[in-house]
Amino acid sequence: MSPNQSRGRLSFSKSPIVEEEAKQELTADFKQDLERMKAMQQRLELDPDEMEKMKSQNPVLLDDGVLHGIGYKSFEIMEILGHGAFGKVFKCKLKGKNTVFAMKVLKKAFLYKNKHLKYAITECNILKQAEHPYVVKMHYSFQTPDNLYMILDYCNGCDLAYHLNKKQIFEEAEARFFIAQIILAIEYIHGLDVIYRDLKPENILIDSEGFCRLADFGLAKENIGEKDFAKSFCGSPAYLPPEMLHSKGVSKSADIYQIGAVLYEFLVGFPPYYTENIKDLYQSIRTARLQVPKYISKEAKDLLNQLLQKRPDKRITLEKLKSHDFFKGLDWQKLMTKELRPPIHLKNEDGPDTNEANNEEYLFLKQQESKFIDKDYTQEN
Ligand code: ADE
Repeated sequence: MSPNQSRGRLSFSKSPIVEEEAKQELTADFKQDLERMKAMQQRLELDPDEMEKMKSQNPVLLDDGVLHGIGYKSFEIMEILGHGAFGKVFKCKLKGKNTVFAMKVLKKAFLYKNKHLKYAITECNILKQAEHPYVVKMHYSFQTPDNLYMILDYCNGCDLAYHLNKKQIFEEAEARFFIAQIILAIEYIHGLDVIYRDLKPENILIDSEGFCRLADFGLAKENIGEKDFAKSFCGSPAYLPPEMLHSKGVSKSADIYQIGAVLYEFLVGFPPYYTENIKDLYQSIRTARLQVPKYISKEAKDLLNQLLQKRPDKRITLEKLKSHDFFKGLDWQKLMTKELRPPIHLKNEDGPDTNEANNEEYLFLKQQESKFIDKDYTQEN
């Protein structure tokens, strides 16, 4: 595939007829969901004890001057934004206020049935403590009998998969600016002894100023120190590091490989070794030599080779990565304080129409992207 081919077709695709069916189902499902959420919002009366608990945990002063607890009823759903692996995300605002948030809703029954509750709890734990300019902020979390809710910063610039789809590839200066913010976010996350494990353009949101926010910590793993390994086999196929495919367990350097996979995709238009055949993909991730197009600068090529090094013990470290020639002249301190301006402004109006009726193609792509594998291979061994 060349960089000029549409990245919109980049998925482990079904045949076109199935794609068409899935698209219709999805649109209907989304409309129903939005209606159901709105209806439930009218109906839902929270248990008074639960309400009291919420009030003490999350007090907030609304326009009536009364200190309220934040719960599901505190928000007005505006529209649907997207569809993740375990739930949906809605645009919402705090009633009586104009502040807009993203509301991530996870269905408890689904999480429980699929043994995914641990991922939701981990995501919530991590986002509760995370405070970083390039990590999406969680403002509140609460639950109803059916669902778990996370109230997050609303990023109106869409995600980098969308922008990459439109632009096909980023200029090196643009790629440098975006990946540098992600490096800072991953460095911060690693400092919390967390590995992220699901880095891909879909999980990098763009805020109103054109800066990145790392989102979706559903596959992250806590309590991973420098020498620790996480044993689950999980992630999105095209971005899996070789050590994951060797079932050896992954350490923090798996995130560094994924930084490489994302940078490669920014510059080349598709992830390294990309093919629709998953067996071939895995085989190449494990054994193939990295192919880098000729138009890539020698600094970028060298960095990609060091990031996508197959042996995690030989892979470049975050510290060395930041002083690589590819980043020459970048003031990391200024980037941290957002004193650098984005080389391209990914404007709001460039984002997709979030009205679900006008947004079928984007929603369909989101559904494709949300597929991932999750298998605990320690149980098999
Ligand atoms: N989709 C998923 N999370 C989001 C967020 N925080 N803002 C906007 N869209 C999103």
